[in-house]
Amino acid sequence: MTSTHEQWDIVSGVGITALAVAEGRAAESAREDRLINDPYARALADAADSPQLSSPEAQELMRTMVSDYMGVRTRFFDEFFLRAAAGGVGQAVILASGLDTRAFRLEWPSGFRVFEIDQAKVLEFKDQTLDSLGAKPTAERHAVSADLRDDWASALKEAGFDPSVPTAWLAEGLLPYLPPDAEAQLLETIHEFSAPGSRLSIEHVAGTRGQMMGDEIKQVSEQWGIDLPSLFSIEDRPDPGEVLTGKGWTVRRDPSIEIAAGYGRKFADFQAMFQEQSQMLTAQLQS
Ligand SMILES: C[S@@+](CC[C@H](N)C(=O)[O-])C[C@H]1O[C@@H](n2cnc3c(N)ncnc32)[C@H](O)[C@@H]1O
Repeated sequence: MTSTHEQWDIVSGVGITALAVAEGRAAESAREDRLINDPYARALADAADSPQLSSPEAQELMRTMVSDYMGVRTRFFDEFFLRAAAGGVGQAVILASGLDTRAFRLEWPSGFRVFEIDQAKVLEFKDQTLDSLGAKPTAERHAVSADLRDDWASALKEAGFDPSVPTAWLAEGLLPYLPPDAEAQLLETIHEFSAPGSRLSIEHVAGTRGQMMGDEIKQVSEQWGIDLPSLFSIEDRPDPGEVLTGKGWTVRRDPSIEIAAGYGRKFADFQAMFQEQSQMLTAQLQS
């Protein structure tokens, strides 16, 4: 399907945010007190060779603030998937997968299927780089090129997704970029395609979109050379947890700051910004 929306690659538009996240995971994986180990993140980040993200200011930020948060976020969603797989879910859909390498580094049950959806050029870059490293998926992996503002559901089905199998869905680092109608459609499609027992986890920034684009995030992203607020979708929309509750899902909210404390980590550099707003939602449909 040809999208009428803006397209990007790994060093442009929203694509570069996937690279920034991979840089954060690479920095985290190199720490002695690391919460995760992504053995592919460094090579993925290096292969893209972005001048913005290689600057000394950006790299310092990666080693501190970004790594602090990415370690917590990645570990939380790793554990979400491993619990879901152990709990009988048979497939996973990683929405806006970017340079996520879970299909290559987590221990999935035999026959487990992982669908990764992102824009074509982002997935191409990832596939080529991982191929050149000789990386082998640890699940049956399907890369699905689609724009999440279009009819991505058809592309997912064409790739072999089976809606009768309980699914673990993930929206990590995605909702800030989606316009409200695409977000509403995303939640509706997930609901429609979820067999009983399915699960969903979402990285959520609570509050208004204006708060999300505050001065602090602007200053931080300028040090990356990325104007993050300009990439965010600015319109307010309903809280995704409430939307899911209305559709019959059981929703749990964990503030990121509490998740971090549970892993023995404190967000020293941006405690204030994340005090209230950053939350991880985990939802389940009754079996
Ligand atoms: C911050 S990155 C997060 C990537 C990945 N989830 C992770 O945590 O490593 C945002 C990702 O969302 C993808 N994305 C944003 N809007 C999208 C859309 N409309 N369609 C497809 N992908 C999209 C970008 O291409 C990028 O890979």
